Amino acid sequence: MLRIGMLTSGGDCQALNAAMRGVVKGLVSKRDDVEIYGFQDGYKGLIYSNFKMLTSKDFSGILTLGGTILGTSRQPFKLMRVPDKDGIDKVEAMKHTYHKLNLDCLVILGGNGTHKSANMLREEGLNVVTLPKTIDNDLWGTDMTFGFQSAVDIATDTIDKIHTTATSHSRVFIVEVMGHKVGWVTLHAGIAGGADIILLPEMPYDINSVVDAIEKRGKAGKRFTIIAVAEGAISKEDAALSKKELKEKKAKKKYPSVAYELAEKIQEKTDKEVRITVPGHTQRGGSPCAYDRVLATRLGAEASRAILEGDFGCMVGTRNQEIIRVPLSEVAGKLKYVDPKASIIDEAKTIGISFGDE
Ligand code: F6P
Repeated sequence: MLRIGMLTSGGDCQALNAAMRGVVKGLVSKRDDVEIYGFQDGYKGLIYSNFKMLTSKDFSGILTLGGTILGTSRQPFKLMRVPDKDGIDKVEAMKHTYHKLNLDCLVILGGNGTHKSANMLREEGLNVVTLPKTIDNDLWGTDMTFGFQSAVDIATDTIDKIHTTATSHSRVFIVEVMGHKVGWVTLHAGIAGGADIILLPEMPYDINSVVDAIEKRGKAGKRFTIIAVAEGAISKEDAALSKKELKEKKAKKKYPSVAYELAEKIQEKTDKEVRITVPGHTQRGGSPCAYDRVLATRLGAEASRAILEGDFGCMVGTRNQEIIRVPLSEVAGKLKYVDPKASIIDEAKTIGISFGDE
C-alpha cells in the first residue's frame, strides 16, 4: 500500500487542481494500491486530523477547475511552533497525524510560507514532496510557479480594457496589480498590456520621474497614461526610511492601498484626472490558462515519479523549460525578486516604458 497525504496551503491560485490531478494520475498509472488522504484547508487539516479519503475519480474532470478541491488556509510559519489556544502543539500534532495514518509521503502545494513549514516537517523526519504554487512567482528555486501566467493574463486583460476609457477621457489610470513583495505579475502584465509606466517594489520610484513621464506623454500628444503599479511598490523617499520611521509615517496617513497614495501624489503635481482600478482577487480566480495547465501537469507528473522513487525532501520546479527537483532546504525562506538589471527591464525601457527610477 502507498499512502499519500495531500494538502494545499496559503493563498489559492489557478491550476492547484491541475497539479494534484497530475500527481494522482502519475501514481495510479504505476500502482494500483494508492490511498490518498486529502487534508482540508491546508496545514489545519493535518494539525486537526481533518481529512477525506479520495480516489483517482476525485481528481478526474478538475484540470480546468479554479481554486482547490481541498480548500486552503494561511498558517503563518512564525506561529507554527506556538501552541494554539487549546494548547495543541501544532508541529507535534502534524507529526502525530502523519504517523497515525502511516503515511508514506506528504504532497504539499504552496508558496513561500508553506515551503518553510514543509521544510520544517522534513527536518522533523517526514517524507515531503512539494509543488510551487503562487500567482506571485516569488518562490526561489523555480523559474516559474503555476498560477503566475493565469494572473498575468487577467491583469493584462484589465489593463487592455482601460485603454479605451482612458483615451476617451484623457485620464491617468493606475492599475494596481497583486504580487505581495515582488513585481513579477506587474512587470509582465504591464508590458503585455502596454502600460506606459511600471512601478515595482524592486525599483523604488521617484514621484517627480513619474510625473515627468506623464507630462512627456502629454506633450507628445498622447491623451492618456496607464500606470501598472505593484501592490508592494514603494517610493524612493519611503525606501530610505527605517522600518520604524515608515511605520510611523503610515500610521499618520492611511491609504487603502499603494494606488491611492500614488494617485494623491500625482494629483498634487499635475492637473490630470486620475482614476484607480484594482482587479484584486480576480487575479487568482477562475480557470487556469493553458500555460499553467501544462506546467502544473508536468510538475505533478514529476512529483509522482519522485514519490515512486522514494526521492523525498524536494520541491519540483522548472529551470530553462526543464522540470527539476530542488532540495527543500535550499528553497525554504528565500524570495525570488525581479532583478532591476535583468534584460527584460532594459528592453522595456528601450521602448519607452518608465519605471519611475531615473
Ligand atoms: O500570495 C498571493 C497573494 O494574492 C498576493 O499577491 C497578495 O498580496 C495576497 O496573496 C493576498 O492575500 P489574501 O488572499 O490573504 O488577501
